[in-house]
Amino acid sequence: MYCNKPRLLKLAVAGVFLLTIAYVKPRAQTAQTKNPLQPTEINLALGLDHFDAHCASCHGRDGKAATEKGRAVRATDLTSEKLQAKSDAELFRAISRGVRGTAMPAFAKTHKPTEIWQIILFLRKLPTLTPDERVKLESAVPEGARHKRCRRLSKRKSQRNPSTSTKPPVSPPGRSTITLSRLRRPVR
Ligand code: HEC
Repeated sequence: MYCNKPRLLKLAVAGVFLLTIAYVKPRAQTAQTKNPLQPTEINLALGLDHFDAHCASCHGRDGKAATEKGRAVRATDLTSEKLQAKSDAELFRAISRGVRGTAMPAFAKTHKPTEIWQIILFLRKLPTLTPDERVKLESAVPEGARHKRCRRLSKRKSQRNPSTSTKPPVSPPGRSTITLSRLRRPVR
């Protein structure tokens, strides 16, 4: 009888080990596929800007797809409970790859993952977005990142750099004041 004890112990250890792998691994994966971005005003504003430029034609500015084109292509109501019940990872996949056999295009080739995550942050906000909040977000889009502007100025470079283009409005005044105050300070 006592000969079996070490074997039982080994089995128990192996069992615990396998159970740990079975439970921990899927959890780690879902954690990874959650939106890595925070719903800050700037992220939501950039998401809104992408949405208006690339999605609203079919899904409507309010996401309900109640436009003529939206109905014609049978676009999904993005504010519906069914759609909102999907995970961030599922939305990311659908937006990146598109939906085969439907009018839903794939955006992975033209958009960086960060831009798609920003769109998803905005999609999560969409069902409760008030007109006032929309106006506020619209005005929070950095000048250089606005789609219409980019396209008018240069078609080739458009949509590329929303993150770098957030810098110009902030840094130049800051830098110049630092330089000025440094110049005014007496040299020791
Ligand atoms: C040319 C029209 C068109 C454009 C532009 C478009 N969509 Fe769609 N979208 C559709 C259609 C049609 C469906 C329904 C697909 C189906 O039947 O499953 C859909 C479905 C979806 C779904 C649901 C996918 C699912 O898993 O059920 C999401 C999310 C979505 N679109 C997001 C977007 C976003 C975000 C953009 C812009 C970046 C966008 N769409 C641009 C037509 C469009």
